[in-house]
Amino acid sequence: MNHAPLTHLGDMPIETFLKEYWHKKPCVIRNALPDFEPLLSADELAGLACEEEVESRLLIGEQQGHSWQLKHGPFDDDAFGSLPEKGWTLLVQAVDHWLPEAADFLDKFRFVPSWRMDDLMISYAVDEGGVGAHYDNYDVFLVQAEGTRRWEYGGLFDSHSELKPDLPVKIIADWAPEEVVELNAGDILYLPPRVGHNGTAVGDDCITYSVGFRAPSMQEILRDYTDYLGERMLPEQRYADANLALQANSGEISAAAIAQLKAQLIASIEKEENLAQWFGKAMTEPKYAEIDPAPEEEMDAETLVEMLQEGAVLRRTEGCRFAWTAVGDGGVTLFADGASFPCPPAAVSFVQELCHQRELEGAKLVALLNDPAAQAMLQILYNQGSLYLENLDG
Ligand code: SIN
Ligand code: CO
Repeated sequence: MNHAPLTHLGDMPIETFLKEYWHKKPCVIRNALPDFEPLLSADELAGLACEEEVESRLLIGEQQGHSWQLKHGPFDDDAFGSLPEKGWTLLVQAVDHWLPEAADFLDKFRFVPSWRMDDLMISYAVDEGGVGAHYDNYDVFLVQAEGTRRWEYGGLFDSHSELKPDLPVKIIADWAPEEVVELNAGDILYLPPRVGHNGTAVGDDCITYSVGFRAPSMQEILRDYTDYLGERMLPEQRYADANLALQANSGEISAAAIAQLKAQLIASIEKEENLAQWFGKAMTEPKYAEIDPAPEEEMDAETLVEMLQEGAVLRRTEGCRFAWTAVGDGGVTLFADGASFPCPPAAVSFVQELCHQRELEGAKLVALLNDPAAQAMLQILYNQGSLYLENLDG
């Protein structure tokens, strides 16, 4: 498996895509992915939707007098047996958490930093199936994997936009598309945040992959970052007014007091080091905190290194999030699944490679692990379940 990110989308160099389209405007890319092959069959997707831990939804569109119906998984065979002939969709979230091939597939899109990526959602629809006209708050690549989907899109929407009332799904009221396009297997529609879109299956067996990104909301950033800082402040750090001037009216909260407050507030939030430490933790929080990936048996560094020397492959656990940021002394902080680890310079190459490559093996890996600091990181990450070994027979 080639884990390198794409250099082109169809004929378009990634640099052009980023400059012209990313986070700016929609783009239809025909034959976007060379040698594209579906990751799983419709039956396998339905199988995933029957698993307890997997997040899935069944959506039945308006039919013969019935309004939209939404059901949440896990499903059983009965749920699939009793569906109408037309107009329904099965949506399975975070397929990359459960299927290593799907995690590898997402790596093609790592021309955008990995911490911006959310998950791979896969939908299966019968003829006329779709989720209705809506907008999302994130960038998305809608990859047509099998069958044909008609996409209507256009217009920018937000939380003030009117939605159709009393539905279990958010559907934009009075929406008129600006563009219509039919996508076939291997084609991609890229949409930046908030563009209205409506995808409808044309014929049965329409499978669409949504490569979804995430961007923290300013609400989250302000709440979480100030919490993070607040926990680290000492009780004696207070509003300070050594510059106090005599006021004509003692009841006034003066402009000078507000300016002083603002200056103290800005001074306490602006340190980029603090921002990076908080952001790394926040951006690597697992999507499903309730899932504990820790291995049944812990291992020490020596054993792990030995197994890798004997040919085992080291792989990031599907669904685990990794990132790193530089710190002043030549070291880095590694973030893995919401935890942060200061790493000395001797562990930096190992940590950086691990954040960049889903899988490491062979002589390169052995060289990266020749320092005890790197081996210590390996042990910690393995025992918290962020890494696992594969190919144990060498
Ligand atoms: C779908 O795959 O049916 C819906 C994806 C989307 O519109 O975001
Ligand atoms: Co959407």
